[in-house]
Amino acid sequence: MKKYNSLVVVGSQWGDEGKGKMTDYFAQIADIVVRFAGGDNAGHVINFNGQKHKVTIVPSGIFNKRVTNIIANGCVVNLINLVKEFEIIKKSGIEHGNLLISDRVQLILPYHIKIDEAQEESRGENKIGTTKRGIGPAYQDKASRLGIRLGELGDENFKERFKTVFDYQMKFLKNMFNVEPLDFEKTYNDLISAYNEIKDKITNTEVFIESAIKEGKKVLFEGAQGALLDIDHGTYPYVTSSNTSANNASIGSGISHKLIDSTMGVVKAYSTRVGAGAFPTEMKDTIGDGIRERGNEYGSNTKRPRRVGWLDAVALKHAIRTSGIDSIFITLLDVLSGVEEINICVKYEIDGREIDIVPSTNQKYEKCKPIYMKNPGWKEDITKVTSFDQLPDAAKKYLKMIEKICEVNVVGFSVGPDRKQTIILENIF
Ligand code: GDP
Ligand code: IMO
Ligand code: MG
Repeated sequence: MKKYNSLVVVGSQWGDEGKGKMTDYFAQIADIVVRFAGGDNAGHVINFNGQKHKVTIVPSGIFNKRVTNIIANGCVVNLINLVKEFEIIKKSGIEHGNLLISDRVQLILPYHIKIDEAQEESRGENKIGTTKRGIGPAYQDKASRLGIRLGELGDENFKERFKTVFDYQMKFLKNMFNVEPLDFEKTYNDLISAYNEIKDKITNTEVFIESAIKEGKKVLFEGAQGALLDIDHGTYPYVTSSNTSANNASIGSGISHKLIDSTMGVVKAYSTRVGAGAFPTEMKDTIGDGIRERGNEYGSNTKRPRRVGWLDAVALKHAIRTSGIDSIFITLLDVLSGVEEINICVKYEIDGREIDIVPSTNQKYEKCKPIYMKNPGWKEDITKVTSFDQLPDAAKKYLKMIEKICEVNVVGFSVGPDRKQTIILENIF
């Protein structure tokens, strides 16, 4: 049983796999937790001591007081929302960890939200179903070199530089979408007051992370979204705008990939998706509805009901390959109690052929019909189980089957939202 000092925790499906819960769990023994991608499109729910907490951009290690939590360069940050979120945590009375923010994060500004809304509207029938947090437009601007890096707010003449970019964005909004301009002075002042609240937390975090790893500190890299929402390897165009897969842990936090030891994929015992896009194993029936209710499958951020499907091993193996996942942690296993027969999709059928890969286009993916392996279900409530041995035989077999199909070890499983409802099979961190 090998233990790792630097571990990446990523979602292996379409997000909401329970990464927040798992990151918080492992953060109990970590020194540092690094968020390396995405923004406040994420919604991570964490439960302990009978209380429920939610974070979007603050790393999920924040509820562990000895942890330094880092929002690294790969993220896009809405400073105003970050300040609000951190205020709520500070006021909760819980002793919390430190927060540091990379001076290289890109900012999400109010016009990004307007553009996100306008772009979604203009897509008509083909809406992606974004979270409307301005994520796509902020990453677009980063690539177009129109973005603002957090560190720039401390530069001389920042206001003039911001005005130039702002004027361009207002022209774009007006001419492209007929959206009325925002007020520059207000936008600037709101930005600067949020900046003043957090400026003591801004630093070159990549240097901090590198030294920590070299000193043998325990570092977790927390993914947001899921591997199938990755801009390159996900189910494009129904994806988010960043590289959510584990490979981005190094680029998104500014350290060499050689410093990262291992990757753990968080896998929900079934599948969910929020927003549009093909979903071969989707269940539009009472079994799916039951899972949605028992699993409380409603977006923590946008409150949208999540689409529910069977576990898709083809998509999961795609995630394992593209993220280099070494081990998997199965979450929400308790939600399957009472399901008579549990399907795992092992192949797709498309135009009369069988395939075991995720096609590159949504049109082809829509045509894929799942080919299922059937597994017996179990009736027992497993929310109080504390070891593998206490699981009903069918649940044991289900975990073993996932392990066999995916060819990676299941290193633990979770039977409820609480920190304590977590069973470790292999101590990897
Ligand atoms: P994340 O985005 O990957 O962090 O996942 P979310 O927090 O958005 O969604 C996962 C939901 O499932 C949250 O409400 C968690 O509290 C909850 N959860 C996590 N693990 C389990 C589990 O093992 N069983 C049950 N019933 N709920 C869980
Ligand atoms: P966590 O970290 C689930 C989805 C949106 C939409 C698509 C693009 O909680 O797992 P965006 O606003 O990013 O441009 O939306 O991606 N999406 C998520 N789905 N969990 C998430 O985060 C998500 N973040 C984005 O629903 O389909
Ligand atoms: Mg979530």
